[in-house]
Amino acid sequence: MSKQRVLTGITTSGTPHLGNYVGAIRPAVEASRNADIASYFFLAYYHSLIKCQDPEIVHQSSKEIAATWLALGLDTDNALFYRQSDIPEITELTWILCCSAAKGLMNRAHAYKAAVQSNEESGEDPDFGITMGLFSYPVLMSADILMFNAHKVPVGRDQIQHVEMARDIAQRFNHHFAELFTLPEAQVDDTVAVLQGLDGRKMSKSYNNTIPLFASEKNLRKHINKIKTNLLEPGEPKDPDDSTVFQLWEAFASPAECQRMRTEFANGIAWGEAKKQLFELINEELASARQRYNELMDDPGHVESVLLAGAERAREISVPFTQKVRDAVGISRMR
Ligand code: TRP
Repeated sequence: MSKQRVLTGITTSGTPHLGNYVGAIRPAVEASRNADIASYFFLAYYHSLIKCQDPEIVHQSSKEIAATWLALGLDTDNALFYRQSDIPEITELTWILCCSAAKGLMNRAHAYKAAVQSNEESGEDPDFGITMGLFSYPVLMSADILMFNAHKVPVGRDQIQHVEMARDIAQRFNHHFAELFTLPEAQVDDTVAVLQGLDGRKMSKSYNNTIPLFASEKNLRKHINKIKTNLLEPGEPKDPDDSTVFQLWEAFASPAECQRMRTEFANGIAWGEAKKQLFELINEELASARQRYNELMDDPGHVESVLLAGAERAREISVPFTQKVRDAVGISRMR
């Protein structure tokens, strides 16, 4: 029996923060070690280009993200880790799928609709600033997924619609040409925490409230000290369930340590002390990976070789599979 295939893309337009770590990277790294699953992880450069047109940022962020995943122990012997752009078959498949994808379906994509709506609200032309890249985003994502016939696609809630579109496009293709594509399913893990940021809202680049994952020790401490708290004094009981400090604690601590901290809150631990302990806890989990990260950032040649090896393995699949797709649509040798 062939293994279950699990695939997810990483957009490379930002520096990884603790929210990314807890919500996506930590579970993915764990999954990469599971020998019963064939996992596929890739740097989604072409998706990044839609959001970010600054070459330096795209490059730097990709370098940071690749080094981050490797430093945290991504098992690249088991999982495939590659750059989307190293698999030219993906862009070829994107075009072929464009010809099966209904425009009406793309009109309903959330990100596109939101852009149109914001134009309308500000009295602009509805198409103002909207590229074909944004409009076709779900087709590119479908090609990522369908190329490797992924069964499961772990994503955040905002991406479920895109996976459903991939199913729809695959179904049309299968129906019209040949049963080549597995119908993928989105996998949303409700057990992983959505971390709060410094101001208590969801930790997100767009709120500018993040704690960078591999900040230096000093910088990590500084960020943790900036977490918003209430004005309760030392000795006054504090409510852990209404505290960002405790929420972060929970994302890193064992159940026994969570219990202990609950008691400390009830006993009125000082905010300064709680933050100090939080720093120590997070730092302990990240210190060795941080060191490895810094080494990798200084050794781009190594990261490059890992990515190229991943691409080579991925192309062992994508090249012959694309030939089947070409044959199915009639792009084949003269016969
Ligand atoms: N669009 C996804 C995001 O913004 C990233 C992504 C690109 C992706 N291609 C994918 C995720 C394929 C899952 C499968 O998070």
